[in-house]
Amino acid sequence: MDFDVIVIGAGAAGMMCAAQAGQRRRRVLLIDHAARIGERIRISGGGRCNFTNRHISAENFLSQNPHFARSALARYSQFDFIKLVERYRIPYHEKTLGQLFCDDSARQIIAMLHAECDAGGVQWAQPCSVQSIERIDDGLRFELMTGHGRLRCQSLVIASGGLAIPKLGATPFGYKVAEQFNLPVIAPKPALVPLALPAEMLAPLQALAGASLHVATHCDAQPAAFREGMLITHRGLSGPAILQISSYWQMQEYGGGKRLPIAIDLLPGVDAAAWIAPHRHGKATLASLLAGHLPKRFAQEWCALHDWVKPLTEHSSRDLAEMIAALKGWALMPAGTLGYAKAEVTLGGVDTDALSSRTMESKTVPGLYFTGEVVDVTGWLGGYNFQWAWSSGWVAGQFA
Ligand code: FDA
Repeated sequence: MDFDVIVIGAGAAGMMCAAQAGQRRRRVLLIDHAARIGERIRISGGGRCNFTNRHISAENFLSQNPHFARSALARYSQFDFIKLVERYRIPYHEKTLGQLFCDDSARQIIAMLHAECDAGGVQWAQPCSVQSIERIDDGLRFELMTGHGRLRCQSLVIASGGLAIPKLGATPFGYKVAEQFNLPVIAPKPALVPLALPAEMLAPLQALAGASLHVATHCDAQPAAFREGMLITHRGLSGPAILQISSYWQMQEYGGGKRLPIAIDLLPGVDAAAWIAPHRHGKATLASLLAGHLPKRFAQEWCALHDWVKPLTEHSSRDLAEMIAALKGWALMPAGTLGYAKAEVTLGGVDTDALSSRTMESKTVPGLYFTGEVVDVTGWLGGYNFQWAWSSGWVAGQFA
């Protein structure tokens, strides 16, 4: 069967792209190997899908080329997607930090994308596996061998996502296609992922598993700092402040240099030196003071971990300086991450140098497009990853 466009991957980016290409009157086939479409949308945001964020700029994304996302994000912005959601009368609300969620169910976003595909006459093939892809007709078309037989198309869009949560159907398909056509791939890594702590660090914190704290995290010389919640778990640290900084911690590996610890500010917005000064010569312990800001048990364990258990008056000026420094930048070197099984997204992917930021088409293989998470563009937590999927999918849909 012949099509103008075949899109592989019926997730966020693939459905947006297929709908747009179809509405341009291209004959489009959307393939997915999973029986159900948009599974990642369905489970996102606790079933309510944090579908975008009111405040989006290229600074909210990690990539080897931090400017790459600008074009797509400007051409199809969060406001365009919000308009689409409003056109379908899907009720939504802002939760925090500009994050927009459905009031009722993420399934409404899937139904909306399905309806947009129907409006473009998109045909579906699912579950359908793709066994091979070849260029034919002197590179003018692609031929795919699939579970639905031999298929041909002029434009081939790879929207097969990243590797997070393999049990939801994630595969390295997109990276393999890139490699087949000699497009470079930035080594994928789990991102927005809980961090594991080394055993000697974990043991004293075990008793605190379940405790949550409001902190600010940062890493290395990165300008980004995240003032959000942190959760102590049986294996290490989680919660939004940790998931956010995990992507930057993972990013350090690309430089090939030494990995630096993450830093946790336990008193965000507080001048620790000024806060501690009036108690400098008193009988209070650091733990008792900290209990005014942090959960009591955490304050006690954290001070015991550092051996700061005596009344403050018995600590030297040097101890005090160390306390202040640790409160504002507790340096923790994770043992690793909890991996793709617990990650929300994948860092790395198809190298943006190989793609046009205006069209998402390969610079060397005409007609081959990559869109969504398979590309080396990774957003912060908070609706940024879906917006990248909508924006890059929309752009590819204008040209494929
Ligand atoms: P996506 O993964 O959505 O789709 C890829 C599709 O390709 C899938 O349907 C898959 O079955 C198919 N596929 C894979 N391999 C294939 C193959 N070999 N052959 C055929 N088909 C294949 N983001 C956000 O902004 N807000 C949020 O609230 C959340 N919440 C969230 C929760 C959880 C638990 C996870 C794991 C992730 C999120 N995310 C998120 C991230 C968000 O889900 C993600 O960035 C987008 O879904 C990426 O969209 P894509 O279309 O690129 O991939």
